[in-house]
Amino acid sequence: MQPLSNQTLMAIAQQYGTPVYVYHAEKIKAQYQHLTRAFVATNTHFFYACKALTNINILKYIGNLGCNIDCSSINEVMLALHAGIPASRILYTSNGITFEEIEEAVQQGVHINIDSISNLEKFGKKYGNACPVGIRLRPNIMAGGNLKISTGHDKSKFGIPVEQITEVLHVIEQHNLIIKGLHIHTGSEIKDVSVFVEGITVLFDLIPKFNHLSYIDLGGGFKVPYKENEEGTDIELLAREVKQAFSSHPNPNGKPLEVWFEPGKYLVSEAGYFITEVNVVKPTSATTFVSVNSGFNHLIRPMFYDAYHRIQNISNSNGKHLHYSVVGNICETDTFAWNRLLNETMEGDLLVFYNAGAYGFEMSSNFNSRFKPAEVLLLNGETHLIRKREDMQDLLKNQIAVL
Ligand code: LLP
Repeated sequence: MQPLSNQTLMAIAQQYGTPVYVYHAEKIKAQYQHLTRAFVATNTHFFYACKALTNINILKYIGNLGCNIDCSSINEVMLALHAGIPASRILYTSNGITFEEIEEAVQQGVHINIDSISNLEKFGKKYGNACPVGIRLRPNIMAGGNLKISTGHDKSKFGIPVEQITEVLHVIEQHNLIIKGLHIHTGSEIKDVSVFVEGITVLFDLIPKFNHLSYIDLGGGFKVPYKENEEGTDIELLAREVKQAFSSHPNPNGKPLEVWFEPGKYLVSEAGYFITEVNVVKPTSATTFVSVNSGFNHLIRPMFYDAYHRIQNISNSNGKHLHYSVVGNICETDTFAWNRLLNETMEGDLLVFYNAGAYGFEMSSNFNSRFKPAEVLLLNGETHLIRKREDMQDLLKNQIAVL
């Protein structure tokens, strides 16, 4: 599917102002269909890792496509329920949370993956075999686009380390727990399919120890191309590998094992565009800075993960190419790109950041007391404002004047 045209993006900027996040619904659909088609011959179910983007319209849209929802907080669970997703299609993969939050999730009737022995014990004491549950394991595999987004290695806080399996089995036995699923999530931006296969191999060693398994959850982490000519995870190859692995490893309890995935970026990243406007062009001896009306308060990925986002000046797409450093307007070093080739850029031009749908708006903040941007959904050729730009009232709404 072609990316949105400059004309479309410019019209949206004109109508809704900048900075603005734009999400192209049909691109999300195309990504989801790519997954379901590739995995058609396997017993696979997808849960959108909604931490990537939780606007309720996105949740609803993805839910209507038939995709389930994976949550990482009870509030995400409540948002998914609010968006009309039935509890039976919501998964809560927790990490480091209080037992009270797990109780709330049980009350809501969603699937849960527990990630610590401590909470598993509390769960056992309270629910015994009354509430089948999944466990999140740490496979001790190092993978992912960046250390900060690698979650399965042997120094990671996520999941119960696989070497503690004897203790886990002891807790299960003691409380007669029914473990219905095993979960791992190795990291984000995993291009190499063999990493997923390695994870499957770790789990296959453990499966015979569990009598009630119905799913194996391999988490998310499919890589999407951020750079020009970069390749993402080969989804078809992954599907073939999954099919092969699971057909030679049937579930010892006879039930067909479902394979679950939790894609976040894969579904929404490329569907998202972040449009900003150039405030200042500042030539210096080191570089020519282009300051846009944004910063890491709106898109933190480049600063936090050294992430690369393609940037284009859509106001002058035929202009000659010059080097610019694209920076924000907040009071920190917030460099989006250093010495990047852009079409000649003037103050007032619109710069678009591509692949901004995942962890863009979602990780935004009010740093420097700036407003969070608006969000717009493009669906069937029509644009809809799905989140208002903030205003002074938003900055003040929870403050309590005591002086
Ligand atoms: N499942 C679990 C348990 C996760 O922790 C995550 C992401 C996902 C699924 C989805 O991963 P994805 O398919 O989106 O790669 N903010 C970072 C990414 C952090 C991902 C955290 N967990 C970024 O902007 O690159």
